[in-house]
Amino acid sequence: MAALRAVAEPTRLRLVVLCARGELTVTELTQILGQSQPRVSRHLKLLCAAGLLDRFREGSWVFYRLSQSSPLGALAQQLVAACGDADPAIALDLQRLAAIKRQRADLASAYFRENAAQWHRIRSLYIDEREVEAALVDIIAAADPRDLLDIGTGTGRMLEILAPRVERALGIDQSREMLAVARVNLESAGLENGLVRLGDMYQLALPDASFDAVVVHQVLHYADRPEAVIAEAARVLRPSGILMLVDFAPHTLEFLRDEHAHRRLGFADSEVAQWCSAAGLDPAPPRHLIGDPLTVVIWAAQRRACPWAAEEASEEIPLAVLEGGVR
Ligand SMILES: C[S@@+](CC[C@H](N)C(=O)[O-])C[C@H]1O[C@@H](n2cnc3c(N)ncnc32)[C@H](O)[C@@H]1O
Repeated sequence: MAALRAVAEPTRLRLVVLCARGELTVTELTQILGQSQPRVSRHLKLLCAAGLLDRFREGSWVFYRLSQSSPLGALAQQLVAACGDADPAIALDLQRLAAIKRQRADLASAYFRENAAQWHRIRSLYIDEREVEAALVDIIAAADPRDLLDIGTGTGRMLEILAPRVERALGIDQSREMLAVARVNLESAGLENGLVRLGDMYQLALPDASFDAVVVHQVLHYADRPEAVIAEAARVLRPSGILMLVDFAPHTLEFLRDEHAHRRLGFADSEVAQWCSAAGLDPAPPRHLIGDPLTVVIWAAQRRACPWAAEEASEEIPLAVLEGGVR
């Protein structure tokens, strides 16, 4: 009842519709609605109290999204679907949201453009990647996939280390500059079974169930809808296929936002597990590679076999293998 009362107010309904499109900060929501920050914050507080939105703080930013912790999140989804986007106020909000996202994407691609050539050096500033790469090789060796998709391939490093272990590997990235570097790297490594293509991680131009393995390495922290990236990765996985997500554990290094275009300061195991389960994946226990100041986490998960595909179910890779692979 409190939830319905909360959305009976037009601004609050608009906020629910906007938060259904991604995790948004109060500053972004204020820009879109053109109302004062205290007013927007008051509405957001009410929506959180009513169980329609979740609020989470990460360093100096506070994000809002449709509730995943309360059963009323489902009601919020239904309300958003029923609203559609024909209403002029909602249509304008969505246009402004699209402009904000474009602006953000432009900033991120400018960052990637400037850093494509020296990406390996930047990565080495964070942690020693060799341990992570060895753990991923172990997972791939245990799962023995025929093909692999690398989402957000960047300079193609994951393809370099994993493509030799599969028949066919494909890297997708939205940055032409990164892909240009990746092509040179693949060629000099002599990898003929590795290809790269321009593409968007939210909308892969790939059929359902077309890969045995998907890797998303140091990409998720740029996403404003990490759960949508995971759902899209799960979509292209065959039943029993494996997803390997690699990113940081929650941290407080704000400069990664200011200087390196990160949107999220790491991820909690529980939220990644929840996103994987919602996408039809069974998460294995995560592996933490403790670093100072950044800890890298490998979250492996296996696509559930379709209930109607009995033969595929019998070929399922036991989760223990995934766990063994990252030990
Ligand atoms: C930090 S780099 C990581 C590259 C690579 N996975 C690695 O670890 O070496 C992040 C990459 O994600 C790509 N990216 C960001 N947003 C993307 C999107 N919406 N679709 C596809 N690629 C994206 C960037 O262009 C960039 O190359």
